[in-house]
Amino acid sequence: MQSFTSLLFLVLFLVLCKSRSENTDSDLDTQRSDFLNWQRGISKIKLPSALLNSAPILKFRGGDGGCEPASSTCTSPVELDDLIEKLGSEFKAAIELNVKEHEEDCRKSCEIFYCGEGEGEGSREYRSYNMGSVPPEDFQNEFSFPLNLIRVTEDSSTLLTSSEAKNLVKVAESEGVLNGEYKSGKYKLGGDWLENLPKTLSLFNSLLKTHIYPELTSQFPQIISSPTVLRPHSVALLRYNSTHPRTDTHVDNGILAMTLALSYSGDFKGGGTYFEHLGKETVDMEIGGVTFRPGSVRHGGSKVTEGERYILGAFMLIEDKVEHVRRLKNRGAKFRGERKLEDAKRHFEWALELNPKCVTCLKDLSEVYLVMEDLENAELHINKALEFIPNDSDGLFSLGVILSKKEDVSGSITAYENSLKINEDDHELHYNLALKYAEVGSKDKELTCYENAVNVKPDYGPALLNWGSALAETENYDEASVKFRAALIDTEVTLKAAVNLATVDNLRANRLAVGGDLGGAVEVLKGSLEEVKKAILEGAVDKIVGSEGGEYLAKARKMVVELSVMLGQVRNREERSDEHHEYLN
Ligand SMILES: *[C@@H]1O[C@H](CO)[C@@H](O)[C@H](O)[C@H]1NC(C)=O
Ligand SMILES: *[C@@H]1O[C@H](CO)[C@@H](O)[C@H](O)[C@H]1NC(C)=O
Repeated sequence: MQSFTSLLFLVLFLVLCKSRSENTDSDLDTQRSDFLNWQRGISKIKLPSALLNSAPILKFRGGDGGCEPASSTCTSPVELDDLIEKLGSEFKAAIELNVKEHEEDCRKSCEIFYCGEGEGEGSREYRSYNMGSVPPEDFQNEFSFPLNLIRVTEDSSTLLTSSEAKNLVKVAESEGVLNGEYKSGKYKLGGDWLENLPKTLSLFNSLLKTHIYPELTSQFPQIISSPTVLRPHSVALLRYNSTHPRTDTHVDNGILAMTLALSYSGDFKGGGTYFEHLGKETVDMEIGGVTFRPGSVRHGGSKVTEGERYILGAFMLIEDKVEHVRRLKNRGAKFRGERKLEDAKRHFEWALELNPKCVTCLKDLSEVYLVMEDLENAELHINKALEFIPNDSDGLFSLGVILSKKEDVSGSITAYENSLKINEDDHELHYNLALKYAEVGSKDKELTCYENAVNVKPDYGPALLNWGSALAETENYDEASVKFRAALIDTEVTLKAAVNLATVDNLRANRLAVGGDLGGAVEVLKGSLEEVKKAILEGAVDKIVGSEGGEYLAKARKMVVELSVMLGQVRNREERSDEHHEYLN
């Protein structure tokens, strides 16, 4: 039935793509916006009764067997053997390496996790969400339209009972789960890998057999032929709280991923998983509930503001299915890290040969071009990625960076603003935007952006530093001094902040002295001197002196001399004025 329906779709595709090939631009715009609405689940078009009505939007579906969004050309699935013939021996070697690495990873998985038959059949009830306009990056042809592939258990049908979930947390806590720390982009969470928690691991292994494998197999029959092929990896028990509140928006490094909720929804405020293409609302689960999804859908853990939220996260490999796209992409990223840019580029291009609509491949390739300073190609590929996922906040951020390098300041500002609309919780983004506003002389907007950046991350040194400098430029030395003082806390910029603090405090003291407040001037100078000396000490002790550090250390030392001289002068004047005072008496 499954394959019959997809065949029907495919036939419809081809017919429609043909008959619609002379669409006007505005037709195309309407269809496109229909599609974009549909992917966010707000379409008036109902499936399946309106199979025909929905057909026009099919042509915007990404992935092989789908059609290009901007034109009416449809592509057919690629065969690995054909590609090897086309791309030659190096590609073949890369593919063979993928197979080897996959086998090795599967073998390692079974050393740690349960591999084998599941017990019984999947029996939970799920609600589904659309994963957006592009199918999973690997095996994209196996997934037929529509892509309702995010599966979340109904609250009445959770994967675990609340006491099973609580018990898992209790066992993990007894094994010291909170001694670990887990990084997600610019954020940190509490938690640890299950490999480090043997008792928790053994509980998880029995859950794989009794609960997880049967459910996963029933939810993704397109790619899972039997529970015996499932190979978990990267399994962690994580805890969000107000100081370790969220994750970056990201894609998971695996064809399938799961998130298991282990806290009562009343135990925390905020939190939950969001999917970027669905907007900011989170997909919430009650304790024991689970989300199964393709790894390549952009998502994140929303900010927890109060309480604690425990989850268990896991990715799955499939023994008889090698994820060539993901593996090529990962190897490309490794080459990029090693500055082997040509190798990196080739791997991303190969991944795109396998799946021309792999959005992360396009973004990766764009980034390589950016490093190579081929800005035209960097822009071309990031725009292609944005065509498939228009509201990809990282994609928009990258576009902003590329346009900024191209000295298209207004284009860059627009891209950053658009990215902010989707993810206002990104301090680097506010900061970059501030720099652009500085470039075009929009002082007020520049200051607001620094403020926003610091609201997101109160100890974000670079923003505090620039904020202070921008205030000092307008001779607002008092407020500038406050910002520099706040920036001292960020060890990345401590020395710079100290030098700047000394400079504005010198000016402030001068002002006070000229105004006759010699006591005030002494206080300012003394305070500043103390901070600069402390920064120098920390700079030396904590080795926070980076590549530019030596220079700032020297500057800071010079400032100590200047401040001391100034302090001496003011004190002299203070004494003389005291004498003067006496005379007058
Ligand atoms: C993109 O995000 C903006 C701002 O949040 C929203 O107004 C718009 O509808 C989104 N578009 C799509 C296609 O999701
Ligand atoms: C949040 O969790 C982390 C890591 O487990 C911990 O270090 C931190 O103190 C916690 N914060 C609060 C407010 O409890």
